Amino acid sequence: MRENTAVAVASPNIALIKYWGNRDDALRLPANGSISMTLGGLETITEVAFTEGRRGDALTINGRPASPDSLRRVSQHLDAIREIAGIGAGAQVRSRSNFPAGSGIASSAAAFAALTLAAAHAAGLRLDARALSRIARRGSGSASRSIFGGFVEWQAGASDEESFAALLMPGGDWPLVDLVAVVSRKRKAAGSTEGHALAATSPIQAARVADAPRRLAECRAALRARDFARLAAVVEHDSYLMHAVMMTSRPSLLYWIPDTVRVIQAVAAWRAAGLEVCATVDAGPNVHCLCAPAAAAGIGRRLRRLPGIVEVLRCPPGSEARLLPRFPSSAKPR
Ligand code: PMV
Repeated sequence: MRENTAVAVASPNIALIKYWGNRDDALRLPANGSISMTLGGLETITEVAFTEGRRGDALTINGRPASPDSLRRVSQHLDAIREIAGIGAGAQVRSRSNFPAGSGIASSAAAFAALTLAAAHAAGLRLDARALSRIARRGSGSASRSIFGGFVEWQAGASDEESFAALLMPGGDWPLVDLVAVVSRKRKAAGSTEGHALAATSPIQAARVADAPRRLAECRAALRARDFARLAAVVEHDSYLMHAVMMTSRPSLLYWIPDTVRVIQAVAAWRAAGLEVCATVDAGPNVHCLCAPAAAAGIGRRLRRLPGIVEVLRCPPGSEARLLPRFPSSAKPR
């Protein structure tokens, strides 16, 4: 029996300009383009072993058998890769992450970026980053961006061929720090796949999408100029716009808990007092506090003193998804 195995690692990302809602749910063609920073220090490592003649796939996450829903989603993604490679073999997949899943730290971005790279390689495909980004997108939209490190832009595109991410600026050009204020480790009630499908039920979505090119241009300009005040203004505005859409969808989605608001308000007060920090929230209660490099240590201390903080994860810009020689025998400590 022949086995073809590959192992890959990928990091999650925080969206500075958010993706919310699809123009095509099946292909995950987004309603608007988005920009993110890949998060260093957080990683998902995934091994894919295709075995000739094997029927069906198996999946373990952090050493435990995955739920039927997770296995179905992974199998669907493997089907897309098997189709491209022209193979029929079933796969044994194991995956391990060093950060909480399903709570607004883009766990699916890292998971599908690592799965795409490992599965494509194990299936014998040798694809460039653009092709990998297009495939990863179909597993989870934000995974298209986690194929790359540093600052990344996903252009919406009007077709499968046109919708992929690309490097916007290397992380080393402006080593911002994302301090993730974890206020809950609970799995969110509504997943983002469900949320994207509701976006169009909000009357605010059309206005959010129509204004996206302006916000994308503003974010690009702020990154290139390393202008923190300019970046903070557009990042916070964009986050509020997405949450306004979520809250006004039918049914409504409210990802915030009281501790989320406490952190957002503290960050606003610190910035008003002259500290270079801003807040953005993905589809979960945890608050990503983006800091200029020199401000990060002080902000970290202030965050840890706030009530309701479970932990603060410190993430500099991270690396692109890459292959590893083997699945490590124990998780790398953060
Ligand atoms: O990739 P998904 O389907 O998990 O959607 C991600 C949505 C947000 O994290 C809320 C925004 C974004 O652009 O990452």
